[in-house]
Amino acid sequence: MAKYIMKKSNPLQGEVCISGAKNAVLPILAATLLSKEPCVIKDVPALKDVEIMSKLNEALGAIVEAEPEKNKVTVEAEKMNCPKAPYDLVTKMRASILVMGPLLARLGKAEIFLPGGCAIGDRPVELHFKGFKALGAEIFMDEEEGKVTAHADRLTGTDIYLDFPSVGATENIMMAAAMAEGITLIENAAQEPEIVDLANFLNKMGGKIKGAGTDCIKIEGVENLHGAEHNVIPDRIEAGTFMVAAAMTRGQVLIRNILPDHVRPIIAKLNECGVDVIMGEEGMIVSAVDKQLVSTDIKTLPYPGFPTDMQSIFMALLTTVQGTSAVIETVFENRYMHVPQLKRMGASIKTDDRCAIIEGKKELRGNKVIATDLRAGAAMVLAGLVAEGRTEVSEIYHIERGYEHFVEKLQGLGADITRMDP
Ligand code: EPZ
Repeated sequence: MAKYIMKKSNPLQGEVCISGAKNAVLPILAATLLSKEPCVIKDVPALKDVEIMSKLNEALGAIVEAEPEKNKVTVEAEKMNCPKAPYDLVTKMRASILVMGPLLARLGKAEIFLPGGCAIGDRPVELHFKGFKALGAEIFMDEEEGKVTAHADRLTGTDIYLDFPSVGATENIMMAAAMAEGITLIENAAQEPEIVDLANFLNKMGGKIKGAGTDCIKIEGVENLHGAEHNVIPDRIEAGTFMVAAAMTRGQVLIRNILPDHVRPIIAKLNECGVDVIMGEEGMIVSAVDKQLVSTDIKTLPYPGFPTDMQSIFMALLTTVQGTSAVIETVFENRYMHVPQLKRMGASIKTDDRCAIIEGKKELRGNKVIATDLRAGAAMVLAGLVAEGRTEVSEIYHIERGYEHFVEKLQGLGADITRMDP
C-alpha cells in the first residue's frame, strides 16, 4: 500500500491555492441529473470521490466528460433512464445517496443500496427518507438486501422539519423539492456553505430557492430545470487544514482562493491559540512565527459552529501547545479514531465518550501510524511534519479521497514529505 513518509519540517513558508470544495461538488454533480440539458461544472477538485460520482452519473444513463487537468466536468443527463444506483459504487462512497432526490424528481423512482456506517459513526439516513415521504414518495425498505426503493408519480411541496440539521438530508430534499408541485419549506435546515453553493447552482438552472444558508429554506417547485455553468466554492476544510499546518510548524503561509466567512470559527480558535490571521488582497496570511501557542477548547457543532471535519486536525495542533485543551465532538458519535494514532506519537490525550482532554507538549515523536479516515489522516500528516524523527502514514487512500495534490502542495511550502508507492 502507498504511504506518506515525513520528517520534522522547517516552519512552512510560501503560498498555497485552495481547490474546489469536495462537499460542494458531490451534491452539485448529483444535481446535474435534474436537467436534460448539459451542465458545466468548474473548479472541480481532481479527487477519487469525484470520479466515483461521475461513474455513478454514467451508470444512471448520463453522459459525463471529466477533464481533471482542467478541473472541469460536463454532464448531460437527457437520456438518464436508470433509477438504480449500483452497489459497487454506493458502497465506495456514502455521498452516493445524494442521487436519490434527483432520481425521484426526474424519473419518479429511485433504487439505492443503503450506504451503511463508516469509521466515524453509524451515519443513518432516515431523515432523507422522512423528507421524501413528506413530499409524497412511497419508501420500501428491503432490510435483507440492504436496499431502499422510492416511488412518486409527482412530488408535492410541503413543510418539513428536520430533527437534526443534517447536511445530506437538506441537500437531498432540496433537490427533490426543486421540481415538486408547489412550495416546500425545510425547517431546522443545515446552513453549511456547501448548501448555499448547491442552491445557487439550482437557481442558475432555473430553480426557485430562497433562504439557503439559514435554518429555513423555501423551495418553489418548477416543471423543468435547464442546463447551467457553475464554479464550485473553495474547500473550507482544505483551507482550514493548511491554516493549522502553518500554525503547527510555527510558519507563515499565504492561502489563496479562500472565503474568510467560511472559516470564521477556525480563525477564532487559531486566534485564541495565539496565531495571527490577516486577510489581504491576495488571500489570507496565517502566521505563528516564533510564537508560544497556548491551549483552547473546541466544541464541534453544525455550521456556523466549529466544523467536525476540522476536529482531528485541530486536535493535532493542541497536542503541541502550552496547557490543557478540551474537545467535545457533538456531531458524530465515533470521531476519535485518530487519538490512539496521535498517542503512538507521544501525544497525551484522554477520552471519555464525546470528550477529549489534551495535555499540550513540547514535542511529538515520529512513528508508524494509520490514516483511519479522511480528516484523521490529514491530522496524522500534520503531526508528522512537527514530530522528531521519521513518520510513516499508511492507508493514505482515505486522505486522497478528499485532498487534491496534498503532497505537492505541502512540498511547495517546504514540508519534508514524500509519497512512497509499493
Ligand atoms: C456531510 O456529511 C459531509 N460530507 C461530512 O464530511 C461532514 O462531516 C458532515 O456533513 C457534517 O458536517 C459530505 O458533504 C459529502 P450529516 P453528511 O447528515 O451529510 C446524523 C468529510 O470529512 N444523521 O449532516 O453525511 C449523522 O449520523 C465528511 O469531508 C442522522 O442521524 O452529514 C451525524 O451524526 C465526513 N440521520 C449527523 O446527523 C440522518 O438521516 C450529521 O450528519 C442524517 C444524519
